[in-house]
Amino acid sequence: MSLSQRPRRAMRDLLRGLPVFAADLPEFDAGAVPAEPVSLFTEWLDGAIEAGVPEPHAMTVSTADGEGRPSSRILICKDVDADGHWYFAANGTSRKGRELAANPHAALAFYWAPQGRQIRVRGPVRAAGAERSAADFLARSPGSRAEALTGRQSDVLEDPADLEAAVRAAADRLTADPGLVAPGWTLYAVAAAEVEFWQADRDRRHTRLRYTRDGAAWARERLWP
Ligand SMILES: Cc1cc2nc3c(=O)[nH]c(=O)nc-3n(C[C@H](O)[C@H](O)[C@H](O)COP(=O)(O)O)c2cc1C
Repeated sequence: MSLSQRPRRAMRDLLRGLPVFAADLPEFDAGAVPAEPVSLFTEWLDGAIEAGVPEPHAMTVSTADGEGRPSSRILICKDVDADGHWYFAANGTSRKGRELAANPHAALAFYWAPQGRQIRVRGPVRAAGAERSAADFLARSPGSRAEALTGRQSDVLEDPADLEAAVRAAADRLTADPGLVAPGWTLYAVAAAEVEFWQADRDRRHTRLRYTRDGAAWARERLWP
């Protein structure tokens, strides 16, 4: 039976029957943590990589337009620095790029299901600068550079043949000039104002620890689940 033929109740039952927090979950002692969130992020990321979490560097990035209407998508986290900046890269003319130009704030969420771990980051966003954006672009694979060079991300695609032609033309330009950088390609930095670490518990007594930036230091608070 296709989804559209499925009775409403069957959909609810299907969703209710799906397991959540099914794996063996790690311990998280929120009383024994570093004074700043980047070390703990690194520790949890290492744990996710060791546990074989697929694409652990993929994160949900939420932005909002000038009227505050939100939109989300998955992006790759490109870097995290000791000052508490989380980085992602995208075309500045895409929907997220336009939203960030109107409202330079973002929220990020990582979820590593096998460990029941979620990390949330929130803060103002700025472009990391032309040099770092160019370095990010030049480190991309030839195919993704050609695609990005078309500069049309999030535009309406009237005809898939237009994409083929634009990518072919971009690839030719890159062959002729391998140092070419897509003008709109932007490395964005989220300056974390808050970072929350969330460890699932099967009895729903989840552990939540929030770091909040306080000048040069970070304050820590536990949150109710
Ligand atoms: C695992 C994964 C990684 C992605 N990484 C990126 C990325 O690093 N940069 C990017 O612009 N889009 C990336 N995308 C595509 C975005 O999710 C999104 O479709 C695209 O950026 C357009 O978003 P927008 O229309 O909201 O601007 C990725 C998608 C997935 C599923």
